[in-house]
Amino acid sequence: MEQLSGRTAVVTGAASGIGLALARALAAEGMRVVLADVEVEALTRAAADLAGQGAQVRAVACDVSDPASVDHLRAEALAAFGAVHVVCNNAGVGGGGPMWEVPVETWQWVLGVNLLGVVHGIRSFVPLLLEQGEGHVVNTASAAGLVAVPYMGPYTASKHAVVALSEALSMELELAGGAVGASVLCPMWVRTRIHESERNAPAAVTEAISSSADGTAGPDMRDLVADLVAGGMDPAEVASMVVEAVRRRRFYVLPHEEVAAGVLARAARLSRGEAPVAKFPGAG
Ligand SMILES: NC(=O)c1ccc[n+]([C@@H]2O[C@H](COP(=O)([O-])OP(=O)(O)OC[C@H]3O[C@@H](n4cnc5c(N)ncnc54)[C@H](O)[C@@H]3O)[C@@H](O)[C@H]2O)c1
Repeated sequence: MEQLSGRTAVVTGAASGIGLALARALAAEGMRVVLADVEVEALTRAAADLAGQGAQVRAVACDVSDPASVDHLRAEALAAFGAVHVVCNNAGVGGGGPMWEVPVETWQWVLGVNLLGVVHGIRSFVPLLLEQGEGHVVNTASAAGLVAVPYMGPYTASKHAVVALSEALSMELELAGGAVGASVLCPMWVRTRIHESERNAPAAVTEAISSSADGTAGPDMRDLVADLVAGGMDPAEVASMVVEAVRRRRFYVLPHEEVAAGVLARAARLSRGEAPVAKFPGAG
């Protein structure tokens, strides 16, 4: 989509990190931006900040794991700006540990937000984009969606699923006439609050995590991820690559060069029938 100015973008997980950077970058292109997030206080601050810089914005409280909430987001975006052109299905959460120790509540939470959140975004918005005959969908996956990472079982599973469904979506959009484009974002570590994802977890998840915290066989994932994230890429840099991908209709967005090498190494091992090699940190 060459023309962004005057058009409307919807960004989920827009109160923090990559989503906030995406909202800023799209607003800087002259887009109207609908910021959606489950963390209402941070969302309100983010929207006020952007509006203060002259952007046309709307904040909508939304839980992407709930299909009705994402339908409500579409309705609010249309009520505010009359159309939607770019949809960034970006909200995501992390949860870790050896997967046999990860509480079922965490599996449900991470898959609900990271995978079904993207599915709900596609189901709510793609018909609208197809109907108007233009638009672009950006799904935030991760390098962990291309190469598996130990101690991040639910996250790795959700992000592999997002890469796969985004590839299928790209094919389906081409087969539907090619008026609507798609991209999948697969960064390694980015300087955000992903290591503090639990701040927005439902009470049942935090309770299950705290009662299962003892006796873990894995490393302290929160500290490890916090260190890796602190040394990660600036989210603004990631966001500018996404804007370029929307403009140029580029499907894969791999901000970190080493990710392609990891994909090739995995494919080579797979073609030789070799088991995966444990490598951490491999992805964000
Ligand atoms: N930070 C990294 O290193 C990294 C690397 C690869 C991919 N990612 C992905 O980037 C995306 C954004 O994460 P981030 O790193 O900016 O983290 P972040 O925690 O800074 O931001 C995530 C945002 O999503 C929101 N959110 C959480 N659950 C939600 C829900 N149910 N509905 C709506 N919003 C919800 C949070 O409130 C938060 O504002 C995620 O999909 C994440 O998996 C991050």
